Amino acid sequence: MAEAQIPSLLRPLPDGIVPAEQIARTEKRWLLLMVGMLAAMMVVVVVTGVTHAIRPPSNVETIDPTTLHLSGEFVESNLGTAPEPDGSLTVRMIADQYAFVPDCVNVAVDTPVKFRLTSTDVIHGFLLPATNVNTMVVPAFVAEVRTRFTRPGVYRMPCNEFCGNGHHGMWARVNVVPKEQFQALAPTERSSCVQR
Ligand code: CUA
Repeated sequence: MAEAQIPSLLRPLPDGIVPAEQIARTEKRWLLLMVGMLAAMMVVVVVTGVTHAIRPPSNVETIDPTTLHLSGEFVESNLGTAPEPDGSLTVRMIADQYAFVPDCVNVAVDTPVKFRLTSTDVIHGFLLPATNVNTMVVPAFVAEVRTRFTRPGVYRMPCNEFCGNGHHGMWARVNVVPKEQFQALAPTERSSCVQR
């Protein structure tokens, strides 16, 4: 017989095990549940977008990315580490395809450090592994992150936001040195701890 040659998996199920109306009801319930979950997720996305995420997470401060080099806080001579009157340090950097400027900065250990970054072109990321520093660097905004390094050492600083073909090569370093050593470096160091 021809029927005997059909593999058992392809054989139609006997009718009447589950009434068709009941299947439709079950499907409707699942559909409702799914639509409900989608609606809940949309509400979460919109609410967090409006209240949290439509601006850079660290700091809400705008800047004109087209005139960074001409005047203001991010002119080249003002980049790097600057001591503040209260003894803390402010590090200013620019992120652009595909480098941080400067690409190495010195800071002192056990000192409050404030990083201020902005981008000239696209969104970059600024991450210092094993610290609380992790922010997006968005053009037209100034990202600000505060931290304090408890151990001296060289902290490698990858761009962690895909920014184009050269993204993988976009690295910089933060050189955390003992306080005495920083004092000795401070007069000359604003933007040049590059080791080749
Ligand atoms: Cu800059 Cu990735």
